[in-house]
Amino acid sequence: MTPELEARSKLIVEHGPNLQKAIAVYDFGSMLSMVIDRQNDIQVELFMVHKSTPEMRGFHRHPDVDTVDTVLYGEIPFYGCGNPKLKAGDSIAIDRMDWHMTGEMPVGATFLSVQQWFGREPNTSLALNWEGKPFSSQHFYLLRKDPSLWVKKTSILKH
Ligand SMILES: [Fe+2]
Repeated sequence: MTPELEARSKLIVEHGPNLQKAIAVYDFGSMLSMVIDRQNDIQVELFMVHKSTPEMRGFHRHPDVDTVDTVLYGEIPFYGCGNPKLKAGDSIAIDRMDWHMTGEMPVGATFLSVQQWFGREPNTSLALNWEGKPFSSQHFYLLRKDPSLWVKKTSILKH
């Protein structure tokens, strides 16, 4: 995790992302995302998570992406990275090597993710640069459809 990424995330949260054109919208069933902006190796993506159900939860990581996530709505019990309990306004830096997962979110959550991609251009959602168990059937479908690393690296679910 670079200090530059954390500084950039802070600036984007304080002053707002570039909203001139959304790049993509993803429907993961229990979560929606909108890729707001991409510039070189940096991507900004807004996530809206439905209130979680137990089968959604599982440790995962994003093997090519460092991200700083800032909670805009709701509360997120986080597992990994020191197990913080995040509330609106809180940020967390997640390194691409960090396994992590979220806990029960009774009202769901919204968070802004400012990402730095390594070794490949940002070309998809953070949730499709994924190593670990998928969190919904729609996520599973998109991971198989998308040119995702998950298919190549993960042995939890074989197809
Ligand atoms: Fe994640």
